[in-house]
Amino acid sequence: MSSNSLCAGFGRVYDGEAGDDMEDIIDTSKIKDNEVISLKNVDFSYNGTLVLTNINITVEKGDFIAILGPNGSSKSTLLKIMLGLLTPKAGEVKIFGQNVRHFKEWSKIGYISQQAANTNTSFPATVEEIVSSGYYTGFGRLFDKAERKAATGEALAAVKITDLSNRLIGQLSGGQRQKVFLARALVKKPEALFLDEPTTGIDAVSQQEFYEMLAKLHKNRMTIVMITHDIDAAIKRATKVGYMEDGNINIYENNGNLSGILASRLIGEGARGRI
Ligand SMILES: Nc1ncnc2c1ncn2[C@@H]1O[C@H](COP(=O)(O)OP(=O)(O)OP(=O)(O)O)[C@@H](O)[C@H]1O
Ligand SMILES: [Mg+2]
Repeated sequence: MSSNSLCAGFGRVYDGEAGDDMEDIIDTSKIKDNEVISLKNVDFSYNGTLVLTNINITVEKGDFIAILGPNGSSKSTLLKIMLGLLTPKAGEVKIFGQNVRHFKEWSKIGYISQQAANTNTSFPATVEEIVSSGYYTGFGRLFDKAERKAATGEALAAVKITDLSNRLIGQLSGGQRQKVFLARALVKKPEALFLDEPTTGIDAVSQQEFYEMLAKLHKNRMTIVMITHDIDAAIKRATKVGYMEDGNINIYENNGNLSGILASRLIGEGARGRI
């Protein structure tokens, strides 16, 4: 498995060239303390086809945002833009108050891509090696071996897979594999987790276990953005629910009483099958 398949782009380093947005690097007065990600007036197109139009969204510390929407509604694209993996055609993207192009503290961000579930399982790596490889993604000093081993042990314990440490990734069930990816995303002790359909293809019991882990992380102040087709989980676990369609997103507070419009929209979609 290539580390890039999970965290491509997490290695960018500011090259020191002064640009027209240089002020974004140094003007800390603009940074809002509670802001993890902000997108302002973002447009994005693939090969000239506009798939996101005028997106404005802020992810705040402590949010647990579930993003729903039909296939092809640009959920993954939006997440990649938030993480600087795709560059918008127009608009502004900030991470922790800083222009995403100049952001360096990638250890604050954990990411499980939609492709993680399709990882080549014939790759001869152990669970411990996969989790430990989370250290090599992105900018940062090289951690010493003992520090890396300790953090790997903690991440394995946090998702309760210590007993699987020496197993090959190809010898795991889908649910166990997703826990490995969660541990890998957690190994650098991030402040925010971005998950693209992390429970697809795993059984109901494993899904519940996974959600309970997320709930515990969220309780311990982890900010979470999760793309999912699981409406029940979104309504049960998230503090906010985003619904994407037609290149746009609407975010609703999940105050235990989602607005009638959203509820009927989601339940309507749910009745036809999963979103
Ligand atoms: N690399 C690409 N090149 C061109 N078009 C793309 C590319 N990736 C995605 N698209 C198109 O952009 C749109 C949004 O795709 P995206 O993968 O973001 O949707 P999604 O909401 O995540 O869908 P799904 O629920 O199936 O994962 C789709 O129409 C898709 O075909
Ligand atoms: Mg997707």
